[in-house]
Amino acid sequence: MTGIYSRIIGTGSYLPAKVLTNKDLAATVDTSDEWIQQRTGIRERHIAAENESSSDLAYQATQRALDMAGITADKLDLILVATTTPDMVFPSTACILQAKLGIKGMPAFDVQAVCSGFIYALSTADLYMRSGQYEHILVVGAEVYSRILDWEDRGTCVLFGDGAGAVVLKRSTEPGILASRLHADGSYASILSVPGTVSGGKVSGRPLLQMEGTAVFKFAVKVLEEVALEVLDAAGMQKSDVDWLIPHQANIRIIQSTAKKLGMSMERVITTVDRHANTSAASVPLALDEAVRDGRIRSGHHVLLEGVGGGFTWGAVLFKW
Ligand code: COA
Repeated sequence: MTGIYSRIIGTGSYLPAKVLTNKDLAATVDTSDEWIQQRTGIRERHIAAENESSSDLAYQATQRALDMAGITADKLDLILVATTTPDMVFPSTACILQAKLGIKGMPAFDVQAVCSGFIYALSTADLYMRSGQYEHILVVGAEVYSRILDWEDRGTCVLFGDGAGAVVLKRSTEPGILASRLHADGSYASILSVPGTVSGGKVSGRPLLQMEGTAVFKFAVKVLEEVALEVLDAAGMQKSDVDWLIPHQANIRIIQSTAKKLGMSMERVITTVDRHANTSAASVPLALDEAVRDGRIRSGHHVLLEGVGGGFTWGAVLFKW
């Protein structure tokens, strides 16, 4: 402990204008609104316009987070963007975002941990902050999963959406982020992947998302409970001390099972999966921003954020608002 904490002083989010409902999907793939709602809790998702990339979504979310924080972009000392759908191979989406914000000089890099990306980036930012080098850090999760879906595969295309969420952290002597824990197990790579890349001027492999749904489901429920208990233990807190749980928004049944295992009623769980579907690294900051802006999360509340995703990766961050 350094006596330095990261406080979240601003949140922001952005959803592309186009809404794709389950009914819309049922017109193009062999599925139904009923099936999707029953198995996943998803009703609709947002889809980026053709000219919108992850950095555009990130830019909009960042402007809103900066507004709430009451600072201008030039005050940022470090920029982290969690994304699995970067604008291009390089430069990083963080560098592209930096240029769009009209600022330069401070370090900027992407964090690639799929649906745990925001949790990974937030934990990384917190540890940088505790080094004492920085005063303001921007952490963004931004995704355009619509670009990496096989729109003919009903087992996956109904599950995802596009969006971005951002937070601004400020160095403080008051908590702040209390603890974070991250994990990965690369031996599970094949159950959720986009097995393609660019090589010799061509796409090699298959650059579309593939998933073994049942295996992912089981893994997610197991590790989301484990890492929640681990981060609470690290902060010396009990399950009952948590005011709000914000898990990765992949499937309402995964969220309900996690809440049940943690002994939390669904009234203390923030959910957006019905309207956003799974926006990967953007899902947690999108849900956080919604709950901050509608007044559910209030001063002094303890909030537990959790992510799980391809890799496999998983992690949790516990903070005091
Ligand atoms: N519409 C209608 N039927 C569908 C369908 C769809 N969109 N997708 C799959 N089905 C069918 C299957 O083909 C299967 O039919 P069959 O019995 O004739 O073979 C049937 O529904 C059951 O499929 P199954 O995969 O066993 O369903 P499930 O209850 O496991 O639900 C998921 C599937 C994908 C919703 C579920 O496994 C899940 O949510 N997994 C985790 C996904 C996730 O969260 N990924 C991201 C993690 S970061």
